[in-house]
Amino acid sequence: MAARDPHRFINELDETSVERIASRLESRAQDDVFSRLLDGYVARLALPSRASILEVGCGTGAVLRSIARRSDFTGQAIGVDHCQSFIDAASAFAQAEGVDDRLAFRMGDAHKLDFPPATFDVVIAHTLISHVTEPMAVLGEMARLVRPGGTVVVFDGDYASLTYAYRDHSFGQRMDSALSFSTFNNPRIMRDLPRLLPGLGLKVEAAWGEAVVEIGHASYFRSFAETYVPYVKNTGLLPAQSIEAWYREQRQAMENGTFFAACNYYTYLARRV
Ligand SMILES: C[S@@+](CC[C@H](N)C(=O)[O-])C[C@H]1O[C@@H](n2cnc3c(N)ncnc32)[C@H](O)[C@@H]1O
Repeated sequence: MAARDPHRFINELDETSVERIASRLESRAQDDVFSRLLDGYVARLALPSRASILEVGCGTGAVLRSIARRSDFTGQAIGVDHCQSFIDAASAFAQAEGVDDRLAFRMGDAHKLDFPPATFDVVIAHTLISHVTEPMAVLGEMARLVRPGGTVVVFDGDYASLTYAYRDHSFGQRMDSALSFSTFNNPRIMRDLPRLLPGLGLKVEAAWGEAVVEIGHASYFRSFAETYVPYVKNTGLLPAQSIEAWYREQRQAMENGTFFAACNYYTYLARRV
């Protein structure tokens, strides 16, 4: 069976699968890893006091809630996603946290958004671009919607670097590739951005990489495996028994303190010229 990135085809998944992904988005938002990566670029954005922000592919709204909680944020933000359940969850979480006066969420397709040009000071794609059907169309929309002088933020993993330790190195490598292939439509897109962004009128002002590494314990990579191993099974790329053995060993390593997994993540801050 061909790989079908679950985020790309979210509207074709059953309710349980959508709920499992929603809970992964919320659980990773509680992780130190997620907060460190997000805070790292938000701190460098120099948001104008009345900033207007768009997050494309907002999921359950964790990124925008985190920005709305900042004492230096007095602006307005809109999150767009193509999954109605995520939009409903994002609105409910924002209301429950008392930040719904600054945040709004609505349905939309990142490839063709329903806003006039140059509407926003900042447009963010936080772990979206690896999932979309046509990354250039989405980046083009982000460039269209940010005002001249405003900032486009693209943050995502380079999933060719995703790796879990496994005693059988050869199968471990195949499992890493299968996880990347089953989960991400564009696993290598982040290394292409220096070449792609200038042609869209986006000048890269800052870019950096960080390794997310968990050794001895697992939180980020625990929920990653829990959520996405079933999609590897669905592809039929690897024998189900071998996948089970791999997953059993990962869980044992998480329990006995011998776990190791890592992946590189990159951030680009690009100014609309
Ligand atoms: C990995 S999640 C990231 C969610 C959120 N940015 C976060 O970090 O918590 C990717 C999100 O992109 C959304 N998505 C994927 N393709 C999309 C598209 N074409 N238009 C709008 N949203 C899309 C998915 O529904 C999902 O919510």
